[in-house]
Amino acid sequence: MLELREANLADAEAEWRFVREMPEDENGLTNAWPGVSREDFLARALPQMLDFAAGRNLPEGYVPETSCFLWDGDTIVGQFRIRHWLCESLRTGAGHIGYFVAKPFRGKGYGTEGLRLTVAAAHDIVPEEELYLRVNRDNPASLRVMLKNGGRIAAQDAEKFYVRIANPGRGRYPSRAEAERILAEAEPRNPGPWGDHSRTAAHCAERIALRSGLCPEKAYVLGLLHDIGRRFGKRHLGHVSDGYAYMMALGYPDAARICLTHSFNEMKLEGYVGNFDTTPEETELIREKLREVTPDDYDLLIQLCDAISGAEGVMDILERMSDVKRRYGAYDPAKWERNLALKALFEERMQMDLYEAVEKDRFHPAGWSNR
Ligand SMILES: [Fe+2]
Repeated sequence: MLELREANLADAEAEWRFVREMPEDENGLTNAWPGVSREDFLARALPQMLDFAAGRNLPEGYVPETSCFLWDGDTIVGQFRIRHWLCESLRTGAGHIGYFVAKPFRGKGYGTEGLRLTVAAAHDIVPEEELYLRVNRDNPASLRVMLKNGGRIAAQDAEKFYVRIANPGRGRYPSRAEAERILAEAEPRNPGPWGDHSRTAAHCAERIALRSGLCPEKAYVLGLLHDIGRRFGKRHLGHVSDGYAYMMALGYPDAARICLTHSFNEMKLEGYVGNFDTTPEETELIREKLREVTPDDYDLLIQLCDAISGAEGVMDILERMSDVKRRYGAYDPAKWERNLALKALFEERMQMDLYEAVEKDRFHPAGWSNR
């Protein structure tokens, strides 16, 4: 049975034997205690690991780091470390996670499974939306381990690949599976085209994110949940405050924020296309939050995706805006222009035609063929 266990006093004897044999630097993972004596391990190395995990006695410029060991039964096979957040040198360097599997245990899947457990543990520790990892170009086995755990290569240079893995969790955004569960539960409560519209938006967001340096899983999840306020019934502006309140209650502020910002590409209440059917309290909440928020890449991305996503697939942005204008009788010209500017912005980033990027002529959401 495999288990990832934080360094601890009860396991000190096995931890000492393992750390003593770890090389000082292999593939970029350093060991400050190669060949350490039992006495030194107990008096200095282990207390330091426990201190660093708790953020105590950190040297200048260090961030807290949790050291874990991967156990197969009663044998330690590897060490996995989690840096709790990024400082500038970690952001462009070693990132959040480093690991080492001892030689006799390599090529047996321990790296993949150990990283899977480490990534899961990091969801509760790391605040950033993605986990950063780095691997030497001449270490394809370790790169494969990262890719098998959902990693994507975000950058590379002559020596290294820089890999990122989505980091969903409470306080940020739900995982893909959790977001799909939330939508599936919500849809029957207020059946309508909004479910497939959301699936199209999720697809578009993921495709654009992949080519714009954003986290594809986060983009997908935010696209899928931007209209989740519709769970609570047929409302116009009300779906914005309903969605915001629901996502906040579930502990996902990044998703809550999108429920709010997706309808306001000018970031002001007056630009809303639709009926103002909110209570004075809800209206005030929307107004206040819009004032607080400076739109980030994900706000802009979902605003754009909302403007090209139909229930049957991807729409031409002009057709979709004309359709909304027909249904509501008017469309704020500034908002219209802003949507076109968003299209241009992401095409510039992707260096690609928007409709090609989102597979306009090929993609249809899940429920489409049933209609
Ligand atoms: Fe929408």
